[in-house]
Amino acid sequence: MGAGPALVSLTLNINGTDRVVDSDPDTPLIFVLRDELGLKGAKLGCGLEQCGCCAVLADGEVALSCATPAAVFEGKEIVTIEGIGARAMGAAVQDAFVAASAAQCGYCTAGLVVAVTGLLETNPAPTRDETAEALTPHLCRCGSHPRVFRAVEIAAAATDR
Ligand code: FES
Ligand code: FES
Repeated sequence: MGAGPALVSLTLNINGTDRVVDSDPDTPLIFVLRDELGLKGAKLGCGLEQCGCCAVLADGEVALSCATPAAVFEGKEIVTIEGIGARAMGAAVQDAFVAASAAQCGYCTAGLVVAVTGLLETNPAPTRDETAEALTPHLCRCGSHPRVFRAVEIAAAATDR
């Protein structure tokens, strides 16, 4: 009978707060977020980095959390959907999603809000092609992408100064 995997202590900066967890070093970030820290906003879909619903920001860049070990995120500033509204752009994107009715079942929505926030923080006035490219990793089986594009336009206009 073999021993279970050795746990390591990780310090993860999540939504501005350092959180310490004991984790198998191979455990993907999403399981730490959801099962250890109770942050259930990021969704587990494919688990294969092919659908986008598990997206978080890591040092301002969109990162998928379902396959990359949590240990890889040590030292980075992680922002989950629970913390996205504390960022000016994140709050604008959330408002824009509501205004555009850009969610149907909502399963993909957290990942899309994170991704759109990451896009607009680095490119405040994306072309439609740039938006399409940024959102390509994000699947929506409800077909809400046209309204997500509209939300991007609304958020970009609202934050245009
Ligand atoms: S669950 Fe991470 S990309 Fe699908
Ligand atoms: S709103 Fe249902 S999967 Fe996107």
